[in-house]
Amino acid sequence: MASVTLRNVCKSFSGVEVTRNVNIDIEDGEFVVFVGPSGCGKSTLLRMIAGLEDITDGELYIDNDKVNDKPPMDREVGMVFQSYALYPHMNVAENMAFGLKLAKTHKPEIDRRVTAAAHTLQLDRLLERKPKDLSGGQRQRVAIGRTMVREPKVFLFDEPLSNLDASLRVQMRIEISKLHKRLAATMIYVTHDQVEAMTMADKIVALDQGTVAQIGRPLELYHYPATRFVAGFIGSPQMNFINGRTQSASSQNVTVTLPGGIHITLPVNGSALKPEEPVTLGVRPEHFVSADEAEIVLNGTINVVERLGYQTLAHIDVEGIASTLTLRTDGSNPVQEGQAIALGIQARSCHLFRENGEACPRLYHEPCVDF
Ligand SMILES: Nc1ncnc2c1ncn2[C@@H]1O[C@H](COP(=O)(O)OP(=O)(O)O)[C@@H](O)[C@H]1O
Ligand SMILES: [Mg+2]
Repeated sequence: MASVTLRNVCKSFSGVEVTRNVNIDIEDGEFVVFVGPSGCGKSTLLRMIAGLEDITDGELYIDNDKVNDKPPMDREVGMVFQSYALYPHMNVAENMAFGLKLAKTHKPEIDRRVTAAAHTLQLDRLLERKPKDLSGGQRQRVAIGRTMVREPKVFLFDEPLSNLDASLRVQMRIEISKLHKRLAATMIYVTHDQVEAMTMADKIVALDQGTVAQIGRPLELYHYPATRFVAGFIGSPQMNFINGRTQSASSQNVTVTLPGGIHITLPVNGSALKPEEPVTLGVRPEHFVSADEAEIVLNGTINVVERLGYQTLAHIDVEGIASTLTLRTDGSNPVQEGQAIALGIQARSCHLFRENGEACPRLYHEPCVDF
């Protein structure tokens, strides 16, 4: 087991910078998820940790050893890829044993490790099967097993579930979480799927165009996003954004003017704000309330209703607000297209972002997030 530390890690491909000053501390035994949209540099970061890609600048430590120049096999990390590429002519046991055989590990030791990994991954009864006779989930488990038998200090997963269908993804997500608990190993998991990040991570690293936007526990990112990018990326449907302007600001609160001349005073720290700075108010679709519980009300018209059974999404046009607002409500809510609706907003559940995307820190203490 091991800790992993990145210090000011930068990466350029032929002069084009794709990773900038990345600082991450991963503790021994932690499950850390790197999340962000396609192209933000997740795989590149993981490949640098694995030693498959040079580090242009900065330092990488595994435990307290600087490993920038160590070849991949000496780093004791194991990587599981999205395309699991098993050898088709080898059965499950042979696929899992192959790397150890190449490393000239003794046969009894290979057998011991393959048996143990197969047991952990519930592959015991499939050891004789060829990959073509396995389901997608089983193949992915063999790919994990192939990494497990090498007993790496750190497991690296690069979008390992992206090729699986939705229900299998949910199942494998739970299996990987259980595996992490059982092995108590350090794991770094890359995904573009915010649900995987929220459900699996001890700690999320949100990446925005090659830089770290925020590091924190899942609910910390949900309730206290540090930037508008993180606010928009974590949570589905996405947070609603409404343009406004600051009327007054202090370290204790900020009063914002919204379209239609409505004012709302928010419990956020506005010390960094300039007078009359254009700002963006953020409200999650699940945080609208009825008019009698709200500080302000936006009156709109329902444009589209999407019924998902367990919940209903209503897309609402409000005069003066350019983007359609999304309301998440009960599956049994009888809202209808064309209907007028009052969207109540509570100041304490609002987010406020500066022109440069930085959040004004929320001062309201969410009961389920401990600091
Ligand atoms: N070998 C390479 N040569 C040039 N550019 C690359 C190479 N690998 C990745 N990139 C670029 O680096 C950026 C980050 O890529 P990547 O780490 O694969 O993103 P992600 O895994 O988050 O989708 C992308 O713009 C990609 O085009
Ligand atoms: Mg990738």
